[in-house]
Amino acid sequence: MGRCGECQAWGTVEEGGAPAPSAVAPAPVTSRARPITEISVESAEAVPTGVDELDRVLGGGAVPGGVVLLAGEPGVGKSTLLLEVAAMRAAEGPVLYVTGEESAGQVRLRAERLGALSDKLYLAAETSIASLVSHVDAVAPRLLIVDSVQTMVSPDTVGVPGGVTQIRQVAGALIQTAKERGIATVLVGHVTKDGSIAGPRMLEHLVDVVLHFEGERHSQLRLLRAVKNRYGPTDEIGCFELTESGIVGLPDPSGLFLTERTAPVPGTCVTVTLEGRRPLITEVQALVATSPLPAPRRATSGLDTSRVNMILAVLEKRTGMRLANMDVYASTVGGVKLTEPAVDLALAMAAASSNNDVALPTGFIAIGEVGLAGDVRTVTGVRRRVAEAQRLGFTEAVVPKHFGDPVPGIRVHEVEELSEALSRVAKRPRRARASRDED
Ligand SMILES: Nc1ncnc2c1ncn2[C@@H]1O[C@H](COP(=O)(O)OP(=O)(O)OP(=O)(O)O)[C@@H](O)[C@H]1O
Ligand SMILES: [Mg+2]
Repeated sequence: MGRCGECQAWGTVEEGGAPAPSAVAPAPVTSRARPITEISVESAEAVPTGVDELDRVLGGGAVPGGVVLLAGEPGVGKSTLLLEVAAMRAAEGPVLYVTGEESAGQVRLRAERLGALSDKLYLAAETSIASLVSHVDAVAPRLLIVDSVQTMVSPDTVGVPGGVTQIRQVAGALIQTAKERGIATVLVGHVTKDGSIAGPRMLEHLVDVVLHFEGERHSQLRLLRAVKNRYGPTDEIGCFELTESGIVGLPDPSGLFLTERTAPVPGTCVTVTLEGRRPLITEVQALVATSPLPAPRRATSGLDTSRVNMILAVLEKRTGMRLANMDVYASTVGGVKLTEPAVDLALAMAAASSNNDVALPTGFIAIGEVGLAGDVRTVTGVRRRVAEAQRLGFTEAVVPKHFGDPVPGIRVHEVEELSEALSRVAKRPRRARASRDED
């Protein structure tokens, strides 16, 4: 600066160095640092919750002192699932279920419906975090369930319940309680309209595991995914069915995401996705129809919109399909969300099948990622996917090149280009069809 901002005098500003960082005085330690080999692991081993599908996602079970955040849309079944877990675990030791959303009576009613009554399952309707800690000290539970973190308040913190300051304080206090006493803790979290967890993003950093519980409003199927997991993999999913008598785990969910029909219909293609290590047979549907609108509609459900647009662009540019004045609807079956590139080929085939009005044969699956050049690229675990399809009675598969040895019981066609795969749904020449009709 040439001129001083304060006295307006020229040439008086002098450069000075930043103050040197001051040394930190050593303070007494809370616990001595020990060689890693001497640290006991027993206290940190996962204990199965009794609900297999949940254990699969958690990576074995609930870890004592570990804090799990279970987030999901209203009514998806968070309280139902946790009440079942609470009842299961109550068989081995006291469990404390703290509800800030319902009265204890309402929770008992639900427990009766689910058959989740147990003498060791303690209920408390409480919204103050300080009282919650007193309950924890009185019950000394092995498992603590807090439904929900947004309804709890810390009495000596300002801010509305569910606000950023309150959630941070409440979560901090709960995590400290869990770690100090070695209690496995599950917090229920609300989600906002766009599906993210309500409250500060920091909440997700604070807890050890973040689980998302998802499902369509009109379907019974519920999927549990780990978004973050300090104790296990994040690529596993748990499948559940929400029934009147509670939540039932589905250890073999393949086939749920298929429509039941006997005759093949144009516009659908079956594929196999890998959710974690588990192959899932799913169906992709597309409807391509002439649009009355100047800007045709592109609507998707369960699929990534930009990915669908990309595949449509590849179809248009590389295979000469005319889609510019067509409405395109693309969706999955059963409310499942497919984000893997491996579904590209099935999506392309479903769109082409609908556009050409040619159905794929029954027992047919397609697996592969589609590149911008119209190439079909390989994806992870192709063999595992094909083997799963074969197990479920599929007889024909279109897969990327370099598949390797054949799999008994299923015919495998390797393709390099999208156009090779699309020859299966090519428009039949009119004359050929007419002559076949005469036959
Ligand atoms: N009597 C009943 N019979 C069958 N299903 C029921 C019955 N009562 C509730 N349900 C189902 O249970 C679901 C509610 O589950 P739950 O209360 O566990 O959801 P939640 O995720 O805890 O919701 P919230 O965020 O509002 O607390 C509802 O979607 C409903 O379909
Ligand atoms: Mg609830």
